[in-house]
Amino acid sequence: NNKDEVVYTVRAQKGKTEIFDGVQTNTYGYNGSFLGPMIRLEKGETVKIRTINELDEDTTFHWHGLEVSGEKDGGPQSILKPGEENTFEFKVNQEAATLWFHPHPHGKAAEQVYNGLAGLVYIEDDHSKSLGLPNDYGKNDFPLIFQDRIFDDKKQLNYSAAMNTDGTIGDTLLINGTLNPKLTVNKEKVRLRLLNGSNARNYTFKLNTGDSFLQIATDGGFLNEPVSLKEITLTPSERAEIVVDFSKIKEVNDLALINEDRSVLLPFVVTDQSGETSMVPKKLNDLSLEDKEMDLPVTKKVELFGMMDMVTINGKKFDPERIDFTQKQGVTEVWEIYNKPDMMGGMIHPFHIHGAQFKVLSRDEKKPPENEQGWKDSISVKPDETVKIAVQFKHKGIYMFHCHILEHEDNGMMGQIKVE
Ligand code: C2O
Ligand code: CU
Ligand code: CU
Repeated sequence: NNKDEVVYTVRAQKGKTEIFDGVQTNTYGYNGSFLGPMIRLEKGETVKIRTINELDEDTTFHWHGLEVSGEKDGGPQSILKPGEENTFEFKVNQEAATLWFHPHPHGKAAEQVYNGLAGLVYIEDDHSKSLGLPNDYGKNDFPLIFQDRIFDDKKQLNYSAAMNTDGTIGDTLLINGTLNPKLTVNKEKVRLRLLNGSNARNYTFKLNTGDSFLQIATDGGFLNEPVSLKEITLTPSERAEIVVDFSKIKEVNDLALINEDRSVLLPFVVTDQSGETSMVPKKLNDLSLEDKEMDLPVTKKVELFGMMDMVTINGKKFDPERIDFTQKQGVTEVWEIYNKPDMMGGMIHPFHIHGAQFKVLSRDEKKPPENEQGWKDSISVKPDETVKIAVQFKHKGIYMFHCHILEHEDNGMMGQIKVE
């Protein structure tokens, strides 16, 4: 085996999971019954991934945030039928980040994610390892995947009963597939990699004590500097890495991560043990907005519109036979995303582009907040808001762009770009 070649096998499977004590819930998972493994990649290495569909329905394996060529991206054009498999190879060509993977068959993505298909991809590089950030997996570095679900009276996930055309909102929160989890941490700095893996729900995370934390990374990499925040909102598919210093929090009894409505998301159990004392570096990255990007004219306009199943992009619904945009590989273009309100006022749409990490240039012509000045692959756009982003694709192929409310995506709020 060539040491530069890593082989992962990822199987989409059906199984049973004990989410509630003593009850088996029918679920989907990758390499197991629910959710999936964490795939760890190093920048610069060549990776071979074998994907196998062991479900009895079509699926795809989409690598959300990964910069690979269109035919490896796993969009709706890359269907694997039951029993089929596909092996592909690529060179990891982007900086350290927390990415994820999930299915993308058109019209079925929401249901398959809902049933449990989602996994994580960590990219590490020499720089990320030299920063001295907490990185002891399961000790001071935890992934937290937030997903809301509805269980029927037999404790089953019944997507068609739960389904709502504006996005399925559940009454039961699962974190990493677990009901009512608690997180035990030492009195030290702890890194939390937050992923909003819900179909439609937005979360605004904060500590119930009002203490602040540092955001260190966005969807696609480190921020230039850590940003101190008291709360952070993530719309579906967005990620944020935050560092909470549990040695600095005075009131550790009943400490919890809560949502905007003050509902408890994740209680912490803080031990007496201290640990990691190193500082979070003041400089984490050097992403710049070059003048040339700021001065580029808008060359792509995207208008998000509608609610329920009336959702469109530029007045159209997804058509697999139609290419909506073309762009040249390696050339930066400015996309203007506008969320057009309707008679009801409209709603936030999280806009996502496959195969690229982009920079946010402005929100309504103003500089984006500090914690959005890092690589992003999904961006929330409020009703009547205009967001400008600088987009460059490193690879060729056909990629999707869509609203990441998965029911909107399945309802056709998606387009295709051909990168040549
Ligand atoms: Cu999470 Cu089309 O993507
Ligand atoms: Cu994606
Ligand atoms: Cu939407």
